[in-house]
Amino acid sequence: MIQTERVTSGIKGLDPLIEGGFPKGRSILVTGEPGTGKTIFALQFLADGLARGEKAIFVTADEGPLDVLEQAASMGWDFERYVETKELAILNAGTYLSSLPGAGRERQIDLQKAVSDLAAFVNQIGASRLVLDPAGPFVLLRDSAARIQDQTRLLIKLLRTSMNTTNLLTSYAVPRTGERSMHGIEEYMVAGAIVLEMIWHSEGGLGRSLIVEKMRCTNVKPTQLEFDIIKGEGLVIQPAS
Ligand SMILES: Nc1ncnc2c1ncn2[C@@H]1O[C@H](COP(=O)(O)OP(=O)(O)OP(=O)(O)O)[C@@H](O)[C@H]1O
Ligand SMILES: [Mg+2]
Repeated sequence: MIQTERVTSGIKGLDPLIEGGFPKGRSILVTGEPGTGKTIFALQFLADGLARGEKAIFVTADEGPLDVLEQAASMGWDFERYVETKELAILNAGTYLSSLPGAGRERQIDLQKAVSDLAAFVNQIGASRLVLDPAGPFVLLRDSAARIQDQTRLLIKLLRTSMNTTNLLTSYAVPRTGERSMHGIEEYMVAGAIVLEMIWHSEGGLGRSLIVEKMRCTNVKPTQLEFDIIKGEGLVIQPAS
């Protein structure tokens, strides 16, 4: 019988709740409003793999590679060392996408080519973990919602077929009502979906929360988990009280 292989998330307290980790070789989407912790989640997923001797690729779209290194360093993760040893590559999707013909939303992105260029990097370093932070720019350059859905479906499919990586995609929060598809990556197309949110405590004050909305092949109880972001550790799930 086929057993689902697992890839540890690196998030302290999360893996035991998802049968040991993400389904290997699949795409997991982390969504949330700005500042909820998506980038740190993604960095932590890679830091965990790197510490286990795996190779990794971080594709950044909003920030430059130096910003990514700085954010990682601020958490206590020395990614520069891994870049030097070629165990980690940080690629700038912004530079890549702006080199394509056209302008703004009219820009025609050849997703097939973009992913095959990416797969060349993945194979070159033998990466097993991949992050697209955020993934939106790969699919949001078309103007109609239907095309974006097609692009998203194609992106997830190409990631699955052209490389052996477990993929973490980040996206801005998708409103739960109204016009969804113009905002981000649709959750039904990925194997796993995690939502990060700020919450108000009943006793007052803000906190951070994480919901595993879906995880294919995984027995996961829908619960809102509270977490902290701690320097030197990253996201840490608080024990259930
Ligand atoms: N070195 C650090 N130590 C502790 N907390 C940090 C550290 N760096 C960042 N944080 C906290 O983590 C929060 C989330 O940061 P992160 O960049 O992961 O959010 P994000 O969801 O990716 O935001 P955006 O949508 O703007 O990209 C920051 O707003 C800050 O409160
Ligand atoms: Mg971010």
